[in-house]
Amino acid sequence: MHLLLILVFVLSVQGYETQLSASGMVRYEVGHVDSDVVITAGHSGYKKPAEYGERYENGCYISANDTCAYNSINCTDTTSKDKCGTRVIADVNTSSLAKLLAHRIKLRMNGVRPHVIICDLHRSRVDVNREVNEATFGMRNAKIVYDEYHNFINTAIVSSSNGGSRNVFYIDIHGQAGNTKTVIGNLIKNNSSSSGLAQLTLSNDQASQTSLGHLVNVSGKSLEELVRGNYSIGGLIEKNSSFGVVPSPENRMSSTGTWYRGGYSLREYSMAAPVFGMQVEANHHVRSSLPNRKNFASTLANAVRCWLKEFSGNY
Ligand SMILES: *[C@@H]1O[C@H](CO)[C@@H](O)[C@H](O)[C@H]1NC(C)=O
Ligand SMILES: *[C@@H]1O[C@H](CO)[C@@H](O)[C@H](O)[C@H]1NC(C)=O
Ligand SMILES: *[C@@H]1O[C@H](CO)[C@@H](O)[C@H](O)[C@H]1NC(C)=O
Ligand SMILES: *[C@@H]1O[C@H](CO)[C@@H](O)[C@H](O)[C@H]1NC(C)=O
Ligand SMILES: *[C@@H]1O[C@H](CO)[C@@H](O)[C@H](O)[C@H]1NC(C)=O
Ligand SMILES: *[C@@H]1O[C@H](CO)[C@@H](O)[C@H](O)[C@H]1NC(C)=O
Ligand SMILES: *[C@@H]1O[C@H](CO)[C@@H](O)[C@H](O)[C@H]1NC(C)=O
Ligand SMILES: *[C@@H]1O[C@H](CO)[C@@H](O)[C@H](O)[C@H]1NC(C)=O
Repeated sequence: MHLLLILVFVLSVQGYETQLSASGMVRYEVGHVDSDVVITAGHSGYKKPAEYGERYENGCYISANDTCAYNSINCTDTTSKDKCGTRVIADVNTSSLAKLLAHRIKLRMNGVRPHVIICDLHRSRVDVNREVNEATFGMRNAKIVYDEYHNFINTAIVSSSNGGSRNVFYIDIHGQAGNTKTVIGNLIKNNSSSSGLAQLTLSNDQASQTSLGHLVNVSGKSLEELVRGNYSIGGLIEKNSSFGVVPSPENRMSSTGTWYRGGYSLREYSMAAPVFGMQVEANHHVRSSLPNRKNFASTLANAVRCWLKEFSGNY
């Protein structure tokens, strides 16, 4: 009885409902009924319960058809390690950043809080941002968590789109240490001179291969403007803060470090109407302390609000 009262109390203080998946490994913070934003953090999980097996650090290379198999075999040959590497290291502090971003967007959008989905199982047990084989290495328990995570995202997108009458902004939050700037991924390569940021101007013809195809269609803005113009996410952040972001008007491509163009979830959810999206690869600085996370979340929320109000077609 007391526990029930405490739970109800927490819910009313926070002002939103949190659904825990059956496995207990995925949290869905249900957004406001009017929200058109879905935020995910799939790589910050820290739990490693005994009943979950470990993912290997690479799959097995099959030379006959030049593919990788991700299964119960731990291939230790050099070719498999070179060609079929995967990642098992978590993105620290990104669930915190995702929640802070949702809170700041709520404050900037008259109390309308985004949907938030967080995976608490460690990336060494499941990688929810990969196709299912690489994600789970065929492990049944991992597959359950994987499905729960993606089912919550689908539910959140259906709710956000309000039966197709609203456009949806999908934001996947990640962290990296390979680039000194925060990287905004839109499924665009960095240095390809035919389809990447090395082009002088990104052509609208390639918009449908990016995560901004639907936004180009509904905003009337060009892909080039949305990716690195003055009103791009990077442009809005850099104009209003000292955070370094790429791409932006100042940083048209990444001159150094690692490039993160966006992964499985971004491809899966933001390449078709009514969704557009981005992957935020937060650099070390913006994740390293609570004040920095709050400050960055606030600045990013301002940029998101600008896109929602000016470009999304919902207002
Ligand atoms: C797979 O093999 C490598 C190399 O022998 C080893 O370091 C690693 O711990 C193994 N992974 C698992 C999950 O057993
Ligand atoms: C590649 O070959 C393996 C082993 O024969 C097979 O299991 C797998 O389905 C093949 N993959 C593709 C993409 O053809
Ligand atoms: C593009 O970047 C990759 C690594 O990210 C590098 O291997 C390649 O040489 C680069 N190409 C050019 C043209 O800079
Ligand atoms: C991005 O592309 C430019 C131009 O080709 C290249 O000089 C730079 O090294 C690339 N950066 C990364 C992070 O791949
Ligand atoms: C944008 O509009 C074009 C032309 O109508 C269409 O082919 C394309 O599929 C649309 N893109 C998205 C993501 O809906
Ligand atoms: C973008 O902003 C800069 C600096 O404020 C300005 O010089 C430039 O003209 C703007 N570009 C466009 C296309 O408005
Ligand atoms: C995560 O945040 C805590 C403080 O909130 C900090 O001590 C830690 O270094 C951060 N880790 C990373 C990788 O940003
Ligand atoms: C810049 O920051 C101020 C103060 O937080 C905010 O009111 C404004 O909306 C921000 N502008 C943009 C374009 O993010």
